[in-house]
Amino acid sequence: MWRRATPLSPLISSFKSSFCIQQTEHRIFERFTTGLPLQEKDGISPKYGAPFITFVLGGPGCGKGTQCAKIVETFGFKHLSAGDLLRREIESDSDYGSMILNSIKEGRIVPSEVTVKLIQREMESSDNKKFLIDGFPRCEENRRAFENIIGAEPDLVLFFDCPEDEMVKRVLNRNEGRIDDNIDTVKKRLKVFQALSLPVINYYAKKGKLHTINAIGSVDEIFEQVHPLFAVCKRAGRRETT
Ligand code: C5P
Ligand code: MG
Repeated sequence: MWRRATPLSPLISSFKSSFCIQQTEHRIFERFTTGLPLQEKDGISPKYGAPFITFVLGGPGCGKGTQCAKIVETFGFKHLSAGDLLRREIESDSDYGSMILNSIKEGRIVPSEVTVKLIQREMESSDNKKFLIDGFPRCEENRRAFENIIGAEPDLVLFFDCPEDEMVKRVLNRNEGRIDDNIDTVKKRLKVFQALSLPVINYYAKKGKLHTINAIGSVDEIFEQVHPLFAVCKRAGRRETT
């Protein structure tokens, strides 16, 4: 019943990719022409200005983490996985540990303030100001809490669009020892994704910030779709430095 045969992209308000790229380039160019000097290493590097924030969204097993690793390697971003931060919090014996563990076991979303504070701590302690925030925002409450607490909006939003049967297959085969990678919890996570995360994805589509990536294919094939989005940032950064 939870199985989805077709990709989600038709459900998302459609924006032509080239339009999005043009818009993104324009915004980035505007931002980077008003800041202090750029230090260009791997592309954009707003070290002295506002952080550059990318949200990475998609259902469980859509390949967010794998693609984030490629983006980090190629473009030098700091990767913050909301799920990993929450799992680390459980291990650190924090007051919230058992609440977080129970939420993860049930595939529920942890109260936004807890997750945003963990993200905030990482952002504030990082020298790198280019952030890839993965698995966040998972719901409208997450999104609003981030805007209120961090006081910023994302510059880019990536959505890895993958059919449900493929996501289930990947999660059940990945063998990472995660407590929530079992069929019952995966079904719950997919329901949460449909009900709470898709509205956030639609929100960013309407704002013209969303870039939908077809998450079927090899890691390199998928990265071929991702690469140009960041290469645009790189060009915008270069233009300013010349
Ligand atoms: O993104 P990931 O699959 O690692 O998330 C695992 C779990 O962590 C989610 O199913 C949810 O219980 C919790 N989580 C959350 N809020 C987020 C991200 C993850 O509550 N923004
Ligand atoms: Mg992950």
